[in-house]
Formats: sequence, C-alpha cells, structure tokens
Amino acid sequence: MHIDRFEAMFLRLGVVMLAAFAVAVAISVFGLGVQLPGEVDQIDPRAVADVPGFDNPGLREVYPGRYEAYIVAQAWQFTPSEITVPAGSEVTFFLTSKDVIHGFHVFDTTINVMIIPGQIAEVTYTFDEPGIYDFYCHEYCGSLHHTMLGRINVVEQ
Ligand code: CUA
Repeated sequence: MHIDRFEAMFLRLGVVMLAAFAVAVAISVFGLGVQLPGEVDQIDPRAVADVPGFDNPGLREVYPGRYEAYIVAQAWQFTPSEITVPAGSEVTFFLTSKDVIHGFHVFDTTINVMIIPGQIAEVTYTFDEPGIYDFYCHEYCGSLHHTMLGRINVVEQ
C-alpha cells in the first residue's frame, strides 16, 4: 500500500503526540500528585443539612496533623469560607452543593474540583508551606458567581 510522504509524516507526528500526552499524564499523576476528585457518595441536595459532616460544616482534626473539612457551596458562598490549619497538615476536603454546579479551585495547589448537587466530592492535599491560599468558584453559577471566594490560612506550627 502506498502512503504519501506527507501523510506518513503526519501519522508519525500523531503517534509522537500521543506518546507525549501519555508521558505528561504520567508526570502529573505520579510526579506532581494531581488526582481525580473522588466521588464519595450520592445525597439528596435538598437535605444536605441532614448528612453527617455537612450538618455542621467546618474543619475537624482527625488526629494531629490530619484534618477533614466539610464545605457546603450554595449561591453565592462557601460555608465555611475560611479555615486555618498549621503548616504540614494533610486536609481532606468533602464538598457538596445545595443548588447548582459550583467549583472549588485553591490557588497554588492541585485542588480543582467541580461541586455537583447530589454528589460529595473528596480531595486531599498536604499544605507544607505556610501562607494564604485563596480559593474560588470556577463554575459559572449566576450573577454573583464572582463573589464566591474563600481562603485557607496555613500558619507556622
Ligand atoms: Cu459558585 Cu460560581
């Protein structure tokens, strides 16, 4: 079968690009720790306040250096919108929405999840460096979407 020189060149280029993307995914997963947000459970978005954890949103210390943060998104705020942990803490975030799809992106971290009503998203991150980590909603959720902000204060031990 005859394959034109340029067609063969583009076929090879396609294979090289696929290999490059596979390497990029491998580096981000195994090297940079980028992870898919886990879907923990399905819940009734109208009854978020009855779900253990979300009945009293906030930060809990599971054991020293290990925290869980339950955060509820609702147009147009996060509850709570500010948490404080010591540097070196590993925080597992559990997030859900009471109304529409929201987002949760924390600057300078790999945390970037969609918050879908009826689902609980889970993402874990270790905050090694002290500082202020702002987070915001990155899914358009209505007229005051741009006001859905919050912050994580990571303080010196
Ligand atoms: Cu919530 Cu945009």
